[in-house]
Amino acid sequence: MFSEVRVESRPVPQVVVVGRFKDEDLASLLPKKAPWAGVAVEASQRMELGGGDLGKIAEAFPAPTADGPSRVVIVGLGKKGSFKAEQARTAIAAVARRLASVKAEHALLALGPALDAAEMNATAFGRCAGEAFGLLSWDNLAFKGSVGEKARKESPRPSISIDADRKASRTGLEYGLALAESVNMCRSLSETPPNIATPDYIAGLAQKMAKQCGLKFSVIKGKDLEKEQLVGHINVGKASENGPCMIRLEYTPEKVAKNKTKPAVLIGKTMTYDTGGLSLKVNNGMVGMKRDKDGGCAVLGAMHAIATIVKPNRPVVALLCSAENSISDEAYRPDDVITYRNGVTVEITNTDAEGRLVLADGFCWACDKEDPAYIVELSTLTGGVVTALGSTFCGMFCDDDTLRGRVEAAAAVSGERVWRLPMHQEYRDMMKSPVADILNSNPNRKAHAGQGAAFLSYFVKDGIPWCHLDIAGVHVSESDSGMFAKGSNGWGVRILTDLIGQE
Ligand code: BES
Ligand code: MN
Ligand code: ZN
Repeated sequence: MFSEVRVESRPVPQVVVVGRFKDEDLASLLPKKAPWAGVAVEASQRMELGGGDLGKIAEAFPAPTADGPSRVVIVGLGKKGSFKAEQARTAIAAVARRLASVKAEHALLALGPALDAAEMNATAFGRCAGEAFGLLSWDNLAFKGSVGEKARKESPRPSISIDADRKASRTGLEYGLALAESVNMCRSLSETPPNIATPDYIAGLAQKMAKQCGLKFSVIKGKDLEKEQLVGHINVGKASENGPCMIRLEYTPEKVAKNKTKPAVLIGKTMTYDTGGLSLKVNNGMVGMKRDKDGGCAVLGAMHAIATIVKPNRPVVALLCSAENSISDEAYRPDDVITYRNGVTVEITNTDAEGRLVLADGFCWACDKEDPAYIVELSTLTGGVVTALGSTFCGMFCDDDTLRGRVEAAAAVSGERVWRLPMHQEYRDMMKSPVADILNSNPNRKAHAGQGAAFLSYFVKDGIPWCHLDIAGVHVSESDSGMFAKGSNGWGVRILTDLIGQE
């Protein structure tokens, strides 16, 4: 939508944005003695019906003066009592969309009085506004060719500078914009098609990013996967000429806090394509499976934000478990049995339950090698979670009260919603195999999302807090609305960043 968004203060704003609550009058929320207050109030009255509804926009055009704006945008903020971060994001996204459509060059967000009235923290508001502008500056045109190029030249994207009437909000704006950059990086990688975004490609990108922002990078692939007995990667990736790899990034604080020497470990499912393997996906189930790498993309985006803006005093390790689940005469098959590095044997019953197989390597590795304080893992793991929660909540499996509390707190700040789903010994029992220790999918159709979590639990050492987030329902936006364009929305970057930000 925007080619660039900057924070800039101007003596005379081109556009001023004010807020208005439902069933409340606008005048009390306007900056004192604003010469354009009269026309703004008039404009807001003209659209009285629904005027304060969340995201509704009215505009006023004051007579030109040397020290006044040429446009006033009045945005509905909904009920005063329910104006929170989520509403701020929605309202500012509507404003940003309007400003883009009129090609505004500069806008001052003058919502300070409204924030006071709603008792909303000005920094938190600024961050939400920065996110909205930043996320709306991403587009999904990277793979448009000569035809799309022509259209783009005919209507170039505007750049805009924004400002806020409170210093704290300005600080928030900068933070939100920076965070959005990390999210946008994640979205662009997610959208990159599978013929380009292979495991090697992602490793290359991670390496480049690591160099730019001072992270340690390493990758395990080829023969080294065998040496380390990362059998999930080896088997799931066997059928593809684009070989599997496990990518490792490490953030090291300048000064590690005494009680925070153990790293937080973030694990991401990074399936560059999921055909289902020999248990081939049918009925169009394959379309869109380029986004089966979105857990890893989110972890990558979060590491970018952690290294560039959060800089916590605890080390953070990222593991991206990457492979392409394809078919060939060399493919792994239903009935195969594989032995993990923790000794657990797995009977393959369905090659389409591949994510848990590569993630098991990640969990084994983390528990063996990283001495983690806790593990948080993101994956587009099951269709079952989409049935259960739709696109409204991510499915969260976490039985450690402290870690779960922290993940829920991060969800509240980031607006990326999670809903707890249950773990139970009965689900673990469902994973028992007659021939091996466990199977990768129970053929009965019960509790698919829970089966995924139960499977993973066999690869976590006792005593290490862990959280599995099944993002299969939430990682794509179906339509162009709010802060998001249709397509990958980068779900996970913000919640992970906020989680680590609590350190
Ligand atoms: N990547 C899919 C899950 C998925 C489904 C993600 C829809 C996004 C949208 C996963 O690898 C998969 O195929 N899961 C199967 C598991 C089943 C075979 C046990 C599923 O959920 O159907
Ligand atoms: Mn699958
Ligand atoms: Zn998958």
